[in-house]
Amino acid sequence: MKILFLGDVMGRAGRKAIAERLPLVRKAWSLDFVVVNGENATGGMGLSGAHAQGLLDAGADVVTLGDHAFDQRDMLTKIESEPRILRPLNYAKTAPGLGARLFTAQNGKSVFVAQALGQVFMKRPFDDPFSALDAALKAAPLGQRADAVIVDFHAEVTSEKMAMGHWLDGRASLVVGTHTHVPTADARILAHGTACLTDAGMCGDYNSVIGMEPVEPLRRFLTGMAKGRFTPATGEATLSGVYIETDKTGKATRIEPVRIGGLLAQQGPAPI
Ligand SMILES: [Fe+2]
Ligand SMILES: [Fe+2]
Repeated sequence: MKILFLGDVMGRAGRKAIAERLPLVRKAWSLDFVVVNGENATGGMGLSGAHAQGLLDAGADVVTLGDHAFDQRDMLTKIESEPRILRPLNYAKTAPGLGARLFTAQNGKSVFVAQALGQVFMKRPFDDPFSALDAALKAAPLGQRADAVIVDFHAEVTSEKMAMGHWLDGRASLVVGTHTHVPTADARILAHGTACLTDAGMCGDYNSVIGMEPVEPLRRFLTGMAKGRFTPATGEATLSGVYIETDKTGKATRIEPVRIGGLLAQQGPAPI
């Protein structure tokens, strides 16, 4: 299968790039399945139901969330009626929606997608993501119930994300980090066939501080005092993420970083 994962969509700039480019990319690369992390698509904070629909309409098969999952209140109800949206498995026991689910791709293949939150340097404590993903993946073994398994590990630190790659090596087609909004340059296939990238980066304007206009973040770093609100940067976004190919066992045979449009050097399995 040919699978694309795109990192955190950041505000209007990110939504615009998804709407304009994802349909073309999906066709040009003959993609079988697309997962988009949408946790910052609405004003940088959460994802509204309408904006979630926009990501799905542009060609996402599944939209994942993160620590900002329910910043927009209407996601509390939207996620109950739209099975293609996933929130983290270990967000809260009472949270609406699911953190993992088996989907059917347009080509008829079964794709299991799961998301979990990390524990290190996150705003509040979450349950152990290693045991949560372990249990979830046992329900859809790779190469048996699932033709592909995609794990979005939404975490702050590189070590925790790299550890998760090794924990799930051989049981997932792809383990990809999200949340930091900065892509790492370590796309590789691990020893037992899991494609791994520590962070996908964001789909947002990189002339920013992790997607926000620099003025207010700079003020807070310089003075420790908040004066205004964070506002998403509005320049052209780079679609940032990762492309993988899998064989009939579900293991990865190829991984390529993806950066399309905007400020970052362009990358992908083929030119767009
Ligand atoms: Fe996040
Ligand atoms: Fe994010």
